[in-house]
Amino acid sequence: DPTLQDSLKRAVAKRAVELVKPGMIVGLGTGSTSSMAIQELGKLVSQGKLKDVVGVASSYQSRILARQYGVKTVDLNDVNVIDFAFDGADEVDASMNLIKGGGAAHTMEKVVDAMAKQCIILVDQTKVVSKLGLTFPVPVEVLPFAISPVLRALVGLGGVPEIRNALRKDGPVITDLGNMVVDVRFPDGVKDPAEMERSINMIPGVVESGLFVGIANTVLVATRDGDEITIV
Ligand code: A5P
Repeated sequence: DPTLQDSLKRAVAKRAVELVKPGMIVGLGTGSTSSMAIQELGKLVSQGKLKDVVGVASSYQSRILARQYGVKTVDLNDVNVIDFAFDGADEVDASMNLIKGGGAAHTMEKVVDAMAKQCIILVDQTKVVSKLGLTFPVPVEVLPFAISPVLRALVGLGGVPEIRNALRKDGPVITDLGNMVVDVRFPDGVKDPAEMERSINMIPGVVESGLFVGIANTVLVATRDGDEITIV
């Protein structure tokens, strides 16, 4: 049910921005849930409730949205710390390990989220899994120059890799950083996310994997309880 999922995303987005305090440097995630949080943040800023808040964007999408909704942004390299970051995820397990990159933004997201003192992940109930990778493939950002050896190495790790194609362009998705994305299916899921993250990131030519281990501090999950939306 797409409208239910949207209202769950909206609810969790609203909850996240309630945690932002005046003067904070806020990491802005990417994707549909983060976009709602950026909109909600913009509302609070324009109501004058959050003075001196600045955002650090994790993609063109979040930078453009922030600008549209009146949230000032600064370059990541111009700040020493990010106080608070919100971001979405494609899958979350019980240890707060994540799969991200459904929107091909995981490399910059990982830098922003890892730099944040507090990283809050915003999901609806459909994203919570017992084991990562059983339904969602692991996105990997890859240098176009190195695509073939990286594909072979990913097969060597037990994966079934596929170059992600664009929807409204003939050919591959090109990320905000000018690279390609390979979606790697693991037929039995990802047994050890930390080990798999290290193995993928060790492959020469890999820019970043969409496995996030030890980065999330809090996960807010929106669930439907009859007619009520609850956030835990
Ligand atoms: C972007 O590449 C992703 O990491 C997103 O954060 C993730 O896909 C979640 O997106 P939604 O909020 O749209 O589900």
